[in-house]
Amino acid sequence: MIWTIKKAIYRAMHGSLKVMMVLFNLPEPELFTGAGSSLKIPEVVKSKGINNVLVVTDKVLMELNLLEGLFNSLKENNVEYKVFDDVSENPTIQNVEDGLKLYLEGKCAGIIAFGGGSPMDCAKAIGARAVNPKRSVLVMKGLFKVRRKIPPLFTIPTTAGTGSETTIAAVIKDPDTHEKFAIVDMKLIPIVAALDPELMVGLPPHITSSTGMDALTHAVEAYIGVCGNKLTNENAEKATKLIFENLEEVYKDGLNLEKRNNMALASYYAGVAFTRAGVGYVHAIAHNMGGLYGVPHGLANAVILPYILEFSRKDAEEKLAGLAIAGGIGTPIESNEELSYRFIEKVKAMNKNMGIPSSIKEIQIKDIPLIAERAVKEGNPDYPVPKIMNQKECEGIIRKLLP
Ligand SMILES: NC(=O)c1ccc[n+]([C@@H]2O[C@H](COP(=O)([O-])OP(=O)(O)OC[C@H]3O[C@@H](n4cnc5c(N)ncnc54)[C@H](O)[C@@H]3O)[C@@H](O)[C@H]2O)c1
Ligand SMILES: [Fe+2]
Repeated sequence: MIWTIKKAIYRAMHGSLKVMMVLFNLPEPELFTGAGSSLKIPEVVKSKGINNVLVVTDKVLMELNLLEGLFNSLKENNVEYKVFDDVSENPTIQNVEDGLKLYLEGKCAGIIAFGGGSPMDCAKAIGARAVNPKRSVLVMKGLFKVRRKIPPLFTIPTTAGTGSETTIAAVIKDPDTHEKFAIVDMKLIPIVAALDPELMVGLPPHITSSTGMDALTHAVEAYIGVCGNKLTNENAEKATKLIFENLEEVYKDGLNLEKRNNMALASYYAGVAFTRAGVGYVHAIAHNMGGLYGVPHGLANAVILPYILEFSRKDAEEKLAGLAIAGGIGTPIESNEELSYRFIEKVKAMNKNMGIPSSIKEIQIKDIPLIAERAVKEGNPDYPVPKIMNQKECEGIIRKLLP
């Protein structure tokens, strides 16, 4: 009885969230696409009257010399820069504070985030701290707690996965509690994004596959949730089609620039969809895999996605069928039931073909109640999922993830 009332309250909250998201009319960044597009960013920075930026990136990308073109272009455009390259995978509060120090020392007026979701999220949080000095990262955790808009943020994603270049979220890890949490606020939306496939050709296959499955998870969770609208559905459909058509091939042939470009677009479209329509329990559980065990975000999502789809299948049947048709793996003359099962099988097959396991070896049985508690707390009521889950059901799903 109490559970039934709780669910009704969650649904009412999802209803208001849906209306709010339409009313907010979130802006999108100015977009540059195609090979070499990242090199245009310094000119755009300069055109906005900014002469001094912080470049936020990670050590791997520095070692790969991936930023050389950007640095040269910044020099050519007389934009001074400081580099913060200490962002870890699953960026921490300490990363944000260290980056902030450099931003303030350099008297920067803007930020260029260069990298995957980790540098982009860290850059958003650095920006938020810079203009809200009295608000700690933890104070800004949750929905709409960032008071002042971040300094101009220019993003150059080097993975095709998170969509952070267009989203209202920054996911940060608290190393004390091993929890990953999101700062969610429209004031974090970057003003410019350059989707440059040339930067992605060196992505190792296992990162290509897992980040690509993260993008698919964004599209699917946004689409099957109850907060979708015409814009988010169209974007989720475009993303799903592109991912179905390109991801497995680009996993095998990372040098294919056209397919890299398609994946970069897919990731962006999926970002547009989920930042307005929300994600679901795949993310709620995956964040805990990242927080507790350091499992990469995309990999955790990829493994968990089929299990959550099976849990939600009946309630999401019609939508899964719609996405199967949009993704080109079914036709409207088939039954929704058939199409929804086929969609789940497709996700499983993609995982298998790309060497993604069906379990998460790091999970410790003793942690299951804690993971479930945190995941359910994260998801309810904030994630507008098709089927609401309780602690016991969540524990059951996590048990299925054991090797
Ligand atoms: N803000 C959002 O809306 C949002 C959405 C989804 C996920 N996230 C967060 O994003 C983070 C994950 O981001 P990610 O999946 O992009 O991975 P990442 O940024 O953590 O990068 C993963 C690894 O790939 C390497 N790498 C990145 N680009 C490369 C390239 N072009 N060539 C070679 N190596 C490269 C990095 O150096 C790193 O070692 C997580 O913390 C997740 O929670 C945020
Ligand atoms: Fe994600």
